[in-house]
Amino acid sequence: MKLLYTAFECAPFFKTGGLGDVAGALPKALQKKGIETIVVLPYFTFIPERFKNECQDVTAFTLEVGWRKQYCGIKRLDFQGVRYYFIDNLYYFGRDRIYGYDDDAERFAFFQLAVIEMMGKIAFIPDILHVNDYHTAMIPFLLKEKYHWVDNYQAIRTVLTIHNIEFQGQYGPEMLGDLFGVGQRRYDEGAIRWHNQLNFMKSGIAYANHINTVSPSYAEEIKTAEFGAGLEEILRMENQKLSGILNGIDYEMNNPSDDPALVAPFDAADLTGKALNKVALQKLMGLPENSKVPLLSVVSRLTYQKGFHLLLEELEHLLQFDVQFVLLGTGDPRFEEAFRKIVARYPEKAAAKITFDVTLAQKIYAGSDLFLMPSAFEPCGLSQMIAMRYGTLPVVHEIGGLKDSVRPFNPITNQGTGFGFEQFRGFYLTEAVKQGLQVYHDSPNVWEKLQQAAMTTDFSWETSCQNYIDLYNRLL
Ligand code: GLC
Repeated sequence: MKLLYTAFECAPFFKTGGLGDVAGALPKALQKKGIETIVVLPYFTFIPERFKNECQDVTAFTLEVGWRKQYCGIKRLDFQGVRYYFIDNLYYFGRDRIYGYDDDAERFAFFQLAVIEMMGKIAFIPDILHVNDYHTAMIPFLLKEKYHWVDNYQAIRTVLTIHNIEFQGQYGPEMLGDLFGVGQRRYDEGAIRWHNQLNFMKSGIAYANHINTVSPSYAEEIKTAEFGAGLEEILRMENQKLSGILNGIDYEMNNPSDDPALVAPFDAADLTGKALNKVALQKLMGLPENSKVPLLSVVSRLTYQKGFHLLLEELEHLLQFDVQFVLLGTGDPRFEEAFRKIVARYPEKAAAKITFDVTLAQKIYAGSDLFLMPSAFEPCGLSQMIAMRYGTLPVVHEIGGLKDSVRPFNPITNQGTGFGFEQFRGFYLTEAVKQGLQVYHDSPNVWEKLQQAAMTTDFSWETSCQNYIDLYNRLL
């Protein structure tokens, strides 16, 4: 089976969030299982030099972006068993960031057209073309409505993965002609229109042969007005081709028994090293060193999605308990400021690093006891799985991928892999934290059992990629 996988971000080359992690890990896992996989990405000039130096020029051609004629270079890199193709154009990708420009629509259009035309130029015609989020969601539409005359492309089956339905790519309908060189008929009919805008995500939903989200619960939730961001109706209509597949995490990079960021390795059979990591973390964050006090942590983008308005409501209350709190992340300036203020008031108990730091993130996963993830909505979420792998029990709002990955503590059976609350209210968040603290203090044996259960739950891509293989097979 031949697979073309494309996304607008991909670790370790460039990423802003979970989409990049998934695009970095899933193709590798699929290739290992024998799927002939290529990954197609934009060639951003800020890709680290060590990768750029290894890239080979494959070909170049002129691409029509509406009335524009643009240079389109194709570069190739073989890395960790996977073949990557990069689409090169300095005008579109010679920028400081991935997203956030006035001409993003044009940049996405160029990239998507290039992906399609490239297949012919490098003679790689996939059985499955897998696109991710709205940046690449126009591809299924384009294949059907613009490239239907290319015989080779007729048998290609398309999959759209929705990592976050809140971002949809909404642009004026004139973009269809101006950027894609297609007419407005399908727009006028309504198939790709929403609220009088061209909607990339909706187009993907309507035209892909299959749509999936990154957890089974989120696949259900987005069919409701509460979570569907306006697309719930079309998702209900397309229900027969919608499914949910839980993401995995990278087990090589997230391995407590072999992680260079840790001061001592540990595993489910022997957790002694975890206490050393905790003390090292306390020292690093300028908190009193004490392996007994429960350490609550956050590693996240500081956004509304992640539920920080809820946590901020409760944080000072939580700090009245005998706990410590550490936070790592950047995001909405209002949240950054609010956390800065609170930690300044409790220097003996709370510390925050308002930055992006992958090494410190690993130290926090390893060195803390409870990992807070009260997301308002969460398509999948990766950090709660990483935390569990490091024996740090997550406290989660039981929705989306959080519900599908964390088994909330059951006080009757003493089983679980974390703590959960259902109603999105500060009171319930605090109750869940209190429940965690109680087990931590009163029942160390139970606590250790929960840690072991969390650490040995299988979140590897190795396992979860099989669901994608099954899906691809069903489509052929
Ligand atoms: C998005 C979602 C997150 C998910 C990630 C990878 O960032 O918000 O929940 O884990 O995509 O699929």
